[in-house]
Amino acid sequence: NKGNYEHYMQKEIHEQPESLTTTMRGRLLRGGSSKAKSVLLGGIKDHLKTIRRSRRIVFIGCGTSYNAALAARPILEELTGIPVTMEIASDLLDRQGPIYREDTTVFVSQSGETADTLQALEYALENGALCVGITNTVGSAIARNTHCGVHINAGCEIGVASTKAYTSQIVVMAMLALAIGSDTISSQARREAIIDGLFDLPSKVREVLKLDQELKDLANLLIAEQSLLVFGRGYNYATALEGALKVKEVSLMHSEGILAGEMKHGPLALVDETLPIVVVATRDACFSKQQSVIQQLHARKGRLIVMCTKGDAASVCVGGACRVIEVPRVEDCLQPVINIVPLQLLAYHLTVLRGYNVDQPRNLAKSVTTQ
Ligand code: UD1
Ligand code: M6R
Repeated sequence: NKGNYEHYMQKEIHEQPESLTTTMRGRLLRGGSSKAKSVLLGGIKDHLKTIRRSRRIVFIGCGTSYNAALAARPILEELTGIPVTMEIASDLLDRQGPIYREDTTVFVSQSGETADTLQALEYALENGALCVGITNTVGSAIARNTHCGVHINAGCEIGVASTKAYTSQIVVMAMLALAIGSDTISSQARREAIIDGLFDLPSKVREVLKLDQELKDLANLLIAEQSLLVFGRGYNYATALEGALKVKEVSLMHSEGILAGEMKHGPLALVDETLPIVVVATRDACFSKQQSVIQQLHARKGRLIVMCTKGDAASVCVGGACRVIEVPRVEDCLQPVINIVPLQLLAYHLTVLRGYNVDQPRNLAKSVTTQ
């Protein structure tokens, strides 16, 4: 049921304030006068000790689910102190990469049925690793076959392009970081700030959704382009990859997410007056580096669309004309949840304007159950 919306993708983008609320329901404890704020993930609480003792955390997934894990990786590393590595499920299988008994492997999948991810799970089970699932589908193969896990509870997602599952996955993995790191006293203040940020997140997503018309206008400008680049780094490298994935899979426009730190190692050669480039430059520890990336792209006459924190338009656009998307600021590690929304809206509007099938892009299936 699409309700008042024309497409499931549109509905699912706009219901993110609610889906995020259900994802967090019953899992954030506000703390009392003497009790600290904390996180309770019922599905993994009995395994936290084992996870804390593991030598490595390995995230495994495909497509958007992989990107969500990439967005959460920095906060996992920060709060747990455990090395976190990333695996695209098919690539882990192609290489038969090393997985050990001392590893915690985390399988991220909206459907819980993706063939590559499921096969990687069998492989990790054979190798004796602790297997944790992060799925949206109760009773799915990945939920059943993992040792423990967390349901993201985002509600049924119908559009082939994953939107609300992505933001709920990031939130669950941020909560996972909080839960694993909860025995470290020195990061208590940081954890409480993130929990406060989680409580505020649905209202901030509601705020960023108000940019809908602005993104439709931008889509109108880009309708006939061949390609769109998206630059990001740090917490928002994932935003670049996921934004580009959304644009290419539904609007059928070539798009590539680029790690901004790699700009001079190749991508800079593409820059000219015509190719549109989105640069994610919201406030965090990487902000000044992104400012310098913007200046260098300006110097090559790049056609820039800068995503920045509300109020920063003037400071990100010095010395050149550029279009700006201003988004509300949240705790740095949660910013990817906000920043993906304008790119989801852009992909959606581009698709409608270009006349393609929004909910069932050509050649794609919602759940990829064959290899
Ligand atoms: C559970 C109930 C929820 C109830 C709540 C009350 C279910 C599905 N969830 O939520 O309805 O309101 O208790 O306390 O009945 N699991 C995996 N792999 C996965 C995902 C989950 O093994 O990929 C396992 C978990 O380890 C857990 C169970 O499935 O044993 C349910 O997980 P989850 O729904 O996340 O647990 P709760 O949030 O505690
Ligand atoms: O169900 P899963 O999360 O395992 O699916 C993984 C990918 O197939 C999926 O995210 C795909 O990339 C989406 N179409 C992206 O929007």
